[in-house]
Amino acid sequence: MHKRTLTGLTVAALMLGATTAQAEVDLEQGKKLNNQVCMACHGPKGISQTPSWPSHAGQHSDYIVHEMKLFRDENRWDPQGLMTENAVGLSDQEIRSVAAWLEDQTPPGPQEVDEELAARGESIYHAGIPEKDVASCAACHGPHGEGVKGAQFPAVAGQHQPYLRQSLQGFKSEKRQSDRNRMMRDTAGRMSEAEIEAVSAYMASMQHPEAEVE
Ligand code: HEC
Ligand code: HEC
Repeated sequence: MHKRTLTGLTVAALMLGATTAQAEVDLEQGKKLNNQVCMACHGPKGISQTPSWPSHAGQHSDYIVHEMKLFRDENRWDPQGLMTENAVGLSDQEIRSVAAWLEDQTPPGPQEVDEELAARGESIYHAGIPEKDVASCAACHGPHGEGVKGAQFPAVAGQHQPYLRQSLQGFKSEKRQSDRNRMMRDTAGRMSEAEIEAVSAYMASMQHPEAEVE
């Protein structure tokens, strides 16, 4: 009898937990929103066909949520003026759901880049530029460009080169201020245009550990 009551309580607690989690993230709702709105620019499975528009497949959901809330509050640099209006009016739940659905998709594979340029970027990515006090990118974006989930450190492997370059230029010019504690503005601010160019090519060429091998 006693045991039975406990089991009943445990089941009730589990069900409550499940309901709460469901209220926060609804993958079906996320997919629907993607197909109705986001897909037009970011692709049906979160891989954009336009090089200056980012891919999000496999991107960490905490990072996507952070950016989406800034766009929604009209507080994220939007150089092409295409993104903000698509975030305004979204609820927290819709944002979390679409972010979770995007995170679930297979990340983009390595992009085709100028190999000489990427080779110059490789050492910047892994070792930084010590004489300019530029830290290793791998320290935060991971040795394979996979980022760090839970720390809002985005994955960069296989991201489009023009988008990466534009983002770094945005940080360098202080127009993009979405980085907590100026983590990126300070880093990009110390890099030359040529260094930005090279490291962007290298990041685009990286093989994300969860991407299909081409
Ligand atoms: C009309 C085209 C368009 C639509 C529709 C659109 N976006 Fe975007 N989005 C963009 C562009 C362009 C950028 C790049 C902004 C920049 O250069 O920083 C962007 C940037 C983003 C970013 C920031 C990426 C990063 O790595 O920081 C996220 C997240 C995002 N979009 C998610 C979404 C979601 C989710 C939807 C659907 C609710 C959506 N977008 C709909 C064009 C669009
Ligand atoms: C101390 C940690 C840290 C280091 C070191 C670092 N980054 Fe970042 N990076 C971040 C964070 C955090 C963000 C997300 C900023 C935001 O929330 O918009 C970011 C964002 C970016 C973005 C934008 C990604 C997107 O999807 O919009 C690029 C590109 C980037 N970093 C490249 C680099 C490069 C190249 C280096 C090395 C020269 C580097 N980072 C070093 C923490 C770091």
